[in-house]
Amino acid sequence: MSMIKFLDVKTKGDDRGHLVALEYKNDIPFDIKRVYYLTDTKEGVPRGFHAHRELVQVAVCVSGRCLMKLDNGSLKEEVWLDSPDKVIVIDKMIWHEMHEFSTDCVLLVLASEVYDERDYIRDYTAFKELLGASEIDVI
Ligand code: TYD
Repeated sequence: MSMIKFLDVKTKGDDRGHLVALEYKNDIPFDIKRVYYLTDTKEGVPRGFHAHRELVQVAVCVSGRCLMKLDNGSLKEEVWLDSPDKVIVIDKMIWHEMHEFSTDCVLLVLASEVYDERDYIRDYTAFKELLGASEIDVI
């Protein structure tokens, strides 16, 4: 099953411009505990390269674009975030990388938890090992 899950966003556009509203419960599948955004990104400088044990996030390029790469340990997928109505859900235990940022990119992220470095898995081998361990648990 594809990891690429977009929220069903309704853009309220008129001749003054576009407006997108994301509401707690109605749109976002978790209680929002943190908001952060990336700016001043560089075309050849990717970011991310980690997974989270518990954190779930929603991400959207409100300006510009980047290429989001997702990996659940058995499948790798990538998708351009190149529109303010492409609001993607990044589930827990998904290795994610952001590549090919445009210089005007503003990547807005809504997160289910406050920042906690202990929730990060920053080593890909450790990520694969943790996935393997959880599969054994299920059996
Ligand atoms: P980092 O996780 O390396 O960013 P990315 O995954 O986008 O490459 O975070 C950069 C720095 O910012 C790092 O020192 C941790 C800090 N940080 C916070 O303090 N709070 C936050 O909510 C986030 C996401 C990062």
